[in-house]
Amino acid sequence: MRNAILAPVTLAVSCLLATSCDWNSKDDYSPKKGYQQFTKEQEEAKAAAAKAGAGGGAAAVAVVPGKQTYETFCVACHGVDGKADGPGAVAMNPRPRNLTDKAWQGKVDDAHIAKVIKEGGAAVGLSATMAPWGAAINDEEIKNVVAYVRQLGK
Ligand code: HEC
Repeated sequence: MRNAILAPVTLAVSCLLATSCDWNSKDDYSPKKGYQQFTKEQEEAKAAAAKAGAGGGAAAVAVVPGKQTYETFCVACHGVDGKADGPGAVAMNPRPRNLTDKAWQGKVDDAHIAKVIKEGGAAVGLSATMAPWGAAINDEEIKNVVAYVRQLGK
């Protein structure tokens, strides 16, 4: 309610104070112009990225199989780095596994990790908060994600 009253007042005041006032200017804004600017910036960014990649610099880091799937489905709980120490993860009970934990890495084999990912925590006696991903990620890709989980532990 207060904002609804204040908004016109604020605009009026800024019209009085400022040298330019948009109160009556109808001709400036063109969505098409805005869109053209947007696509132009997008293309420039793409070109710059391609150039950086072609040079074999830091931008040309090889995409590890499984990384993208991990980043799509797992980071929300396990974190980009696998440490599961983001604000959401810390609030969970039980906490998502810290995938960089070497002691844990040493205790489990790939088949176990694949099963947890495919069938969920409940399938191996862990919390069901660790959901089954078999419907979203096929076996081949689960293998890649397992490899990525292993890499997080290195
Ligand atoms: C909604 C949050 C959430 C998401 C998303 C999630 N996890 Fe988990 N994950 C958990 C929790 C919580 C645990 C711990 C379960 C426990 O200790 O009972 C866990 C445990 C694990 C474990 C350890 C199992 C063990 O033996 O201790 C692995 C491996 C794992 N998750 C991999 C993944 C992968 C890979 C993905 C993405 C495909 C993923 N998780 C997505 C919450 C999540």
